[in-house]
Amino acid sequence: MEILKSIEDVRSWRALHQEVAFVPTMGNLHAGHLSLVKRAQEASKNVIVSIFVNPLQFGEGEDLDSYPRTLDADMEKLIDAGVSALFLPTAEILYEDDPFIIQPPQSLIADLCGKDRPGHFEGVATVVAKFFNIVEPTYACFGKKDYQQLRVIESMVSALNFDIKIIPVAIERADEGLALSSRNGYLSNKERAQALLLSQTLLAMKSEIEGLSKDQKIVTNSYQALEVKMTALLQAGGFIVDYLTIRAQKTLKKALAQDKDLVILVAAKVGKTRLLDNVELNI
Ligand code: PAJ
Repeated sequence: MEILKSIEDVRSWRALHQEVAFVPTMGNLHAGHLSLVKRAQEASKNVIVSIFVNPLQFGEGEDLDSYPRTLDADMEKLIDAGVSALFLPTAEILYEDDPFIIQPPQSLIADLCGKDRPGHFEGVATVVAKFFNIVEPTYACFGKKDYQQLRVIESMVSALNFDIKIIPVAIERADEGLALSSRNGYLSNKERAQALLLSQTLLAMKSEIEGLSKDQKIVTNSYQALEVKMTALLQAGGFIVDYLTIRAQKTLKKALAQDKDLVILVAAKVGKTRLLDNVELNI
């Protein structure tokens, strides 16, 4: 695996290959990240991963300083996985003092995580746009775990005419259903047990929605009632719920009776740890 530290290193590596697949990460790699790597390898044999804890996407009082940095273990995993190149930039080589920021449209970021984390998606879009310009990948893989992030990136690729194919990858879960996340490491044993309620709640909602008849959806505004009921259940289970909401997959707008492709999105805190999860359903 080639270790690339400068933008010039990446450009020279890139020039050797006709097609490359890219997996951007913030490190502390787990099986979720590795499933993106695997998917990238199906797209191209030349896979480049980046590890960069991007300060621009962390707000005040968030976990930028304590975010887990485990470079040696990460490198071992990437070598084992057969990754071709690893890009390890620093904030110094990426950002000016007063960085140029990419602004995603409000229709995509005013709600959900964008509402709870002002500036977050501006930071994500900015770093990903820079990586796209530096790496010039043919393909780039993003997890559905960060569903709104995936939509922001897809929208940016289309709006800014990046010639890159975005590949969405399914959520990788631990055996008991908990979506893998670098932030799971913050959980105590008790909190980890509590956290299982998150994916269980999503699955329960999914089957309730699948069980609703068409008339029930229209007449009783059942989606909202279900959101309220299940939010209370999560709160009773010790969560502070930022949102638990049924949306249209494409637009992330509130699901209407005629919408067929839905996603149930949740963000909730257990102790100090904010967890994200979601489940898609087609009715
Ligand atoms: P990070 O949280 O490290 O995640 C990197 C990629 O791994 C993202 O596309 C994320 O959706 C995916 N991922 C994380 N957990 C996953 C899981 N359990 N199953 C499937 N995919 C999973 O997301 C970021 O970093 C950053 O915002 C980044 C895009 C790198 C920009 O800084």
